[in-house]
Amino acid sequence: MLLLYIYVGQILTLTINMKTRKLGMSDENLAENRDKKAKKIQHPKGKLSAYERIDLLLDEGSFTEIDENVVSDENPDGEAVITGSGTIHGRPVYVFSEDFSIMGGSLGEIVAKKILRVMDLALDARAPIIGIKDSGGARIQEGISSLYGYAQIFKKNVEASGKIPQISVIVGPSAGGAVYSPALTDFIFQVQGIGQLYVTGPGVVKTVTGEDVSYEELGGVEAHGTKSGVSHQICENEEQAFEEVRYLLSFLPQSSNQKPPVFITEDDNERSVEMLDSLIPENRNHPYDMNDVINNIVDDGEQYPVQSNYALNIITSFSRVSGNTIGIIANQPLDFAGVLDIKASEKAARFVRFCDAFNIPLLTLVDVPGFLPGVEQEHSGIIRSGAKLLYAYAESTVPRVCVVVRKAYGGAYIVMDSMGLGADKLFAWPSAEIAVMGAEGAVDIVNRRDLESAENKEELKSKLVDEYNDKFSNPDIAAKLGLVDKIIKPSDTRKIVVEAFKELSNKTNLGDKHGNIPL
Ligand code: HXC
Repeated sequence: MLLLYIYVGQILTLTINMKTRKLGMSDENLAENRDKKAKKIQHPKGKLSAYERIDLLLDEGSFTEIDENVVSDENPDGEAVITGSGTIHGRPVYVFSEDFSIMGGSLGEIVAKKILRVMDLALDARAPIIGIKDSGGARIQEGISSLYGYAQIFKKNVEASGKIPQISVIVGPSAGGAVYSPALTDFIFQVQGIGQLYVTGPGVVKTVTGEDVSYEELGGVEAHGTKSGVSHQICENEEQAFEEVRYLLSFLPQSSNQKPPVFITEDDNERSVEMLDSLIPENRNHPYDMNDVINNIVDDGEQYPVQSNYALNIITSFSRVSGNTIGIIANQPLDFAGVLDIKASEKAARFVRFCDAFNIPLLTLVDVPGFLPGVEQEHSGIIRSGAKLLYAYAESTVPRVCVVVRKAYGGAYIVMDSMGLGADKLFAWPSAEIAVMGAEGAVDIVNRRDLESAENKEELKSKLVDEYNDKFSNPDIAAKLGLVDKIIKPSDTRKIVVEAFKELSNKTNLGDKHGNIPL
């Protein structure tokens, strides 16, 4: 509830801020004139100006522009990006906002210099950097020096990766070279209708492949939010995008040197959640919504899902327990039975690595029937993708708590933060089925000969499946082997998860660990 109030407060602040924007102290008139011209170009396209965007993003009146006098002969009144610093929820951040009204926001030598400088400042100050993207890519007139500028920015993105949170907001075209800097950042927010990412535009696509495609079809929110997974958040409009960036940052630390901020909650740490005792359907193959588990055990039922339109069979989201940020990775039985495929494995792996880099403890909720079988998955590299998730968990040093809710079969059991991979605390509900594989498949293999010679195959198979389930489809064997710490009542899950993270709270290893390579 507390956060909700803060959140509503932010929206009000933003509205006021729009009307009372204060620009950098020097050259106020220059900036005002520039903004007036920009609005004339941007508003008819349904887009805001670069300054308006900064206002929506930052705390009211907190923006200090830097390098406003750094101009080129071509653009003596200001170059195609505005850079500076400000605060979000009172904490320092750095920002650059590409200005499409000047040569289509294209990147030449001076623009690259300005962006590199603000990135350096962010790295030195160990504060997040947010890039607002609206650009036609490399400035054609400047040729190779604009390509060199991009290369330097990409290198800087990689240098900053895993050290400070890097966020991109796509509010216009991001064409050509302009796509790779966002792709190297941790989170991409993309605005419907105006935000598009593509390496080559529809014209070149038509020439090379003969395909007819619009800008929106090629690189809009549908393409990148649901199909390619390049974007993490789809937003209806710019206002929502900047509100969401602010909200995301409320879960994150300033850098790898810090822990995330703590939010005081009135939610009872000992709260029992009775509905969880009857959540799992009697039929083991029937689905339920994993969000019912998450929302009932985290503080105030609050979670912020990441990539919520992509690979729906796995949930990755930020939440809090006892006021502290956690990253949640959970199979979603409602989609594809929660199976792990290539997309889900990579989505989860990158999320785990981000959390590990930024000292965010992991809560894994398991209900996974296995890796998705099939020629298409094998030939597209499910082995490599599954290995990415294994790698991500195995190298993580943040506190890790795992709860097996229902199915945990085979390799998919191992990969979802099993004890062998390094989970610190592993709990299982009585409904947990921890086994090498599901009963049907196991009986087909182990009892093949008996089944072949049986008079009534169906009857025998059903009997053997029941026997297998009684013997193996439970958490008892894993508990006896010490691979489950405790079999817990589902209604006690919040209390037990809170205690486990409290116990592990000093485990976190502050400092640079690794980058967050796009997986
Ligand atoms: C110089 C550019 C430019 C560019 C746009 N402009 N892109 N100037 N270099 N890359 C200029 C236009 O000439 C125009 O100037 C103004 O910006 C606005 O552009 P419009 O085309 O009028 O706007 P709009 O109709 O909204 O179309 C936007 C657009 C289109 C879709 C982005 O401009 C476009 O397709 N641009 C080129 C995109 C592209 O292919 N970039 C790849 C560059 S190569 P005036 O003076 O008329 O207002 C690259 C390789 C790097 O980036 C690879 C690194 C890995």
